[in-house]
Amino acid sequence: MPSKYQIVKKDELTPDISRISVYAPLIAKKAKAGQFIILRATQDGERIPLTISSCDGDDVTVIYQKVGDSTMTLDEIPEGDCLADFVGPLGVPTDIDGCSKVAVIGGGLGCAIALPVAKALHDKGVHVDLIGGFRTKSIVILEEEMRDASDELYICTDDGSYGFSGFVTGKLQELIDGGEKYDRVYAIGPLPMMKFVCKLTKTADIPTIVSMNPIMIDGTGMCGCCRVTVDGQVKFACVDGPDFDGHKVDFDETIARASTYREFETRRREEHKCRLEGMSNG
Ligand SMILES: Cc1cc2nc3c(=O)[nH]c(=O)nc-3n(C[C@H](O)[C@H](O)[C@H](O)COP(=O)(O)OP(=O)(O)OC[C@H]3O[C@@H](n4cnc5c(N)ncnc54)[C@H](O)[C@@H]3O)c2cc1C
Ligand code: FES
Repeated sequence: MPSKYQIVKKDELTPDISRISVYAPLIAKKAKAGQFIILRATQDGERIPLTISSCDGDDVTVIYQKVGDSTMTLDEIPEGDCLADFVGPLGVPTDIDGCSKVAVIGGGLGCAIALPVAKALHDKGVHVDLIGGFRTKSIVILEEEMRDASDELYICTDDGSYGFSGFVTGKLQELIDGGEKYDRVYAIGPLPMMKFVCKLTKTADIPTIVSMNPIMIDGTGMCGCCRVTVDGQVKFACVDGPDFDGHKVDFDETIARASTYREFETRRREEHKCRLEGMSNG
């Protein structure tokens, strides 16, 4: 039997994005689409919130982008080794009730987070149009998995190198103009993408759920770090979300808050890269 929080499987989806399956039977038993875990790669490591991508038997799979110091440290742990902590499932599961036709929109890595939501809806018999947006063809991930979890899959690339040429909002607008009627839209990705999807769906009068991923520390509603203003009220994404009514989220405030630690994060990332280069130079 694997050990607690052992990485039982690891693969690389792109040079920047990896997928690991972790032995965590209690979480695997309870997790629902839209929920997340918080892990620490090492005993003295930072907490990293990651969305549960899927559960298979006793294993929980998460997909992460190596954006900074902690995710790069996580990526150094090989298959077979154990993580220090792996806590969950956290957050409120995504509301998948009460609709018969939806559009699920993922932007970049957001496609990994959108996938379990699309799958849960599709498994329930809901018609799912999945729109996945990427900068360019070489960084398209999970295409087969997204196709299996949807009725129609539309890949969009900003540079037109694959699929629809342009942003996910362009494709969504085209589908709505073509007569598609959606009961709900789910949008998961970078903050500006979600903001502009919501602008469009507000005009089209389509209820829209967004998944907010602000910086989180404790994940229990105690530290206040993950606050988001929704309909003029302060909400904590870790316990009240991460899903919220996109038409009521104050995106401009969230975008401003997201850059609070940018200088520090950049410095830590560069220090980490220097350490790695030092190791590889012997
Ligand atoms: C509910 C939730 C679900 C998430 N799901 C995924 C996922 O499935 N896959 C994935 O790759 N990423 C996911 N993230 C983001 C992921 O947690 C961060 O990329 C990661 O913590 C970055 O840490 P770092 O030290 O490598 O990078 P840093 O250099 O510290 O930061 C890079 C960027 O990551 C964000 N970030 C940093 N620390 C945190 C933190 N503690 N909590 C949230 N965001 C942070 C910041 O916006 C920052 O700009 C999720 C975040 C939340 C809140
Ligand atoms: S992470 Fe501390 S309140 Fe949400």
